[in-house]
Amino acid sequence: MPILPITTVTDLRRVTDGFKSKQQTIGVVPTMGALHEGHLSLVRESLKNCDQTIVTIFVNPTQFGPDEDLRKYPRPPGDDLTMLEALGVEHVFAPADNEVYPSGFSTMIDPPAVAGKLEGEFRPTHFSGVATVVLKLLNMTQADVAFFGQKDFQQVLVVQTMVADLNVNVEIRVCDIVRESDGLALSSRNVYLSDQEREIALTLSRTLSHVEEMIHEGQTDGFEIVTEMRQMLIDGGVTSVDYAVVADPKTLNTAETISLPVVALIAAHVGETRLIDNRIITL
Ligand code: PAJ
Repeated sequence: MPILPITTVTDLRRVTDGFKSKQQTIGVVPTMGALHEGHLSLVRESLKNCDQTIVTIFVNPTQFGPDEDLRKYPRPPGDDLTMLEALGVEHVFAPADNEVYPSGFSTMIDPPAVAGKLEGEFRPTHFSGVATVVLKLLNMTQADVAFFGQKDFQQVLVVQTMVADLNVNVEIRVCDIVRESDGLALSSRNVYLSDQEREIALTLSRTLSHVEEMIHEGQTDGFEIVTEMRQMLIDGGVTSVDYAVVADPKTLNTAETISLPVVALIAAHVGETRLIDNRIITL
């Protein structure tokens, strides 16, 4: 059956009230569309674990900075619905901007402290926009469980902290990063890359593998590791590095001497495209 996306909060509420009255659990997968296997892995988890699954598709303007790619962000709704249909998804919520942010809207979430590091230094308003839209989507969908990808590691920390701090009655599940066979983390922004840039983009995952090797071979000097990460990214041809760090996976604090587990995180520009990747490194 072709999916007819739900576009208004009123229609969505009618559907979710129906689920609730039957005591069905609601799984939600928030996305900005331009779906790929990474998104689909979250959808599969929801379909497997929840009675009802709602995929949301909304390119959220409040999480884009003034110089970012909001206007050119890929928006292929036809393809997205076909992919979701093939998985057996029945409910897609795809509201227009003015349904989520009607005129007069003025409440924004001040995100938790962890939002101020890394991404927050380079995208100062980003996590306020993410936290606001995620909280709204959780409320709109009456979600019991919400699925997020480790790909956006800091986003997960922000959402988990917000949900705990504000007593939001939802369980957050985190799914592994889906990669191409050569290691490139899937991203909706990969479509911006030329063939040559795609080669260069592989340097991110290769650098993360190298960090993992270094640490497993006994390197504990945080400064040495970070210096080598930066060098490897530059040698690999990236245009610029926003950050390349090894940090505590709960706080994102960096340390002179690292102790496991840690998360290695990178944000770098390849040409005009900004890419992020990360890896959790355990014993
Ligand atoms: P978007 O970038 O579309 O990603 C939607 C979800 O898919 C996020 O939880 C993200 O971490 C996950 N995802 C993306 N690439 C992935 C990959 N390669 N493997 C596994 N999961 C992956 O993240 C957002 O949208 C927005 O910030 C949103 C949460 C929807 C709020 O607007």
